[in-house]
Amino acid sequence: MVDVILGLQWGDEGKGKIVDYFASDYDVIARFQGGPNAGHTLYVGPENKKLVLHQIPSGVFHQGTVNLIGNGVVLDPVTLKREADAVAAFGVDLKKNLFISERTNLIVPTHRALDKAAELAKGNEKIGSTLKGIGPAYMDKTGRNALRVGDLLQKNFTTSYIKLRLKHQKLLDNYNFNEDISAWEEEFFEAIEFLKTLNIVNGEYFINDRINKGQKVLAEGAQGSMLDIDFGTFPFVTSSNTISAGVCNGLGVAPQKIREVIGVSKAYCTRVGAGPFPTELEDEVGEKLRKIGNEFGATTGRPRRCGWMDLVALQYACMLNGVTQLVITKADVLDAFEELSICTSYKVNGKETSEIPFQMNNSLIEPQYKSFAGWQLETSQIREEKNLPDAMKSYIDFINKNLTAKVRYISNGPGRDQIVKIQ
Ligand code: GDP
Ligand code: IMO
Ligand code: MG
Repeated sequence: MVDVILGLQWGDEGKGKIVDYFASDYDVIARFQGGPNAGHTLYVGPENKKLVLHQIPSGVFHQGTVNLIGNGVVLDPVTLKREADAVAAFGVDLKKNLFISERTNLIVPTHRALDKAAELAKGNEKIGSTLKGIGPAYMDKTGRNALRVGDLLQKNFTTSYIKLRLKHQKLLDNYNFNEDISAWEEEFFEAIEFLKTLNIVNGEYFINDRINKGQKVLAEGAQGSMLDIDFGTFPFVTSSNTISAGVCNGLGVAPQKIREVIGVSKAYCTRVGAGPFPTELEDEVGEKLRKIGNEFGATTGRPRRCGWMDLVALQYACMLNGVTQLVITKADVLDAFEELSICTSYKVNGKETSEIPFQMNNSLIEPQYKSFAGWQLETSQIREEKNLPDAMKSYIDFINKNLTAKVRYISNGPGRDQIVKIQ
C-alpha cells in the first residue's frame, strides 16, 4: 500500500514538514520525481535545527524507516554527498537507511551548464529555473542519452560520460557558453565514488517486495501540481510529472496500490520563479505575506511571489491528483490580517469560469474574490480543533464546501508538533 504526500500549488507548500510529521507511520519513504530543485525544510535534533533537504527523502531522521530515491528522480551526486555530510552531523548514516534505484538518471556538470546557458538565452522569457540541471537532465532521459546510477557500476562509465559530455559541449558552443566547469567535474567524480558506496538497488522490486509483505510506503512529491510538465503553467513549469500519476512511473508501482493522496496547500499562495500567478499581490498585502511567512526560496533564497488562495487552481489540483485529504499549511501566517480573500473563479475575456484555461496568462485572467474577516489572534500554540478561532473555522469551511477533498489537518507553525487535526 502506498500513500502520497504532494504539493498542490507552485511548490514550497510545506511538504517536508508534513512528510516528517507522518513518516513514523511508514516503513519506506520514497521520492518519485524532481531533483535538487526541491528544497524541503525540516527541524531536527534536540535543538530543532533547521535543515533543508534537496535530494534525499524527508524520512531519513526516523529510525525504522528506510528511504528510497526512485527511478523518476534526477540525481546530482554532488548535492547528495553534501547532504549526506549534513545529515551525518545528526547521526544519520545514509549507508544504512538510503536506497537508490539503479534506473535513477544522473545530473552531470554539463547539465547544470546547459541549464544556465538555456536560461540566459531566453532573456526576458526565462523560466526562473533553479539552475540545478533539471530540464537538461530530463531532456537526456526522454532523448535516450542519459547516464543512470546503475551505469556507475559498469566498467565503461568514464567513456560513456565523455561521450555525453562531448554531445553537451556542442550544445554549449552553440550558446557561446565558455565558463570553466572543471571544478564542477572534479566534485562530480569525487561524489560518484561516494555514491557507489551507497545501496544501489533495483527500485521497482525493492518497493514491490515490501508492498507485498504488507509494508507501508509514503511517496514524497517535490515541486507542486501547477509546476507539472503536462498540467502546470507551461512553459513555466519543471520537467517532471509532479502529480500522483508520477508515483507510478517514478517508482514502478501500479495505480491500484495507491491509497491516500494527501495534498498540501498553503492557506494562501506563493510562487518562486517566473510565470502566471492569477492571485498574485504586488502590493503591501503581498509584502506582508512574504514578511510574516518568511517567503524566501529554500533552494535559491529568492523572494517568493505571494497572493491569496486560489480555489480554481486548488480544485484543478484536487482533480488531477485524486486528493483524498487536504493539509493546509501556514495558517498562522494569516493571524495578523484584518481581512482575507479567496479566489472563487476567474473571469477570462469577460466570461466567468471555474476552469484553468490553456493559456494561464495573468493579463487575461481576472480573479473573482470572496472576502473573509481575519481572526486576528495568535494561533501557533493551538493543538485542538475546538480551540481554533471561529473566523478560521469559517475560512476552512468555505474551502471544504468548494473542493472535492476535505481539510484534515491545519499546520500552524514550522515545528513538527504545530499541527491541528480536523475531524
Ligand atoms: P516544501 O518545499 O514544500 O517542503 O516547503 P519549503 O520547505 O520550501 O517551504 C516551507 C517553509 O514554510 C519552510 O520554511 C517551513 O519551515 C515553513 N513552514 C511549514 N509549515 C509551516 C506552518 O504551518 N507555519 C509556518 N509559519 N511555517 C511553516
Ligand atoms: P519544492 O519541492 C518551488 C520552480 C523554479 C522555476 C521552475 C522550473 O521545494 O516545492 P527547474 O529548476 O525545475 O527547472 O525550475 O520551477 N521550482 C520550484 N518552486 N519549489 C520547488 O520545489 C521548485 N522546484 C522548481 O523556481 O520557476
Ligand atoms: Mg521547497
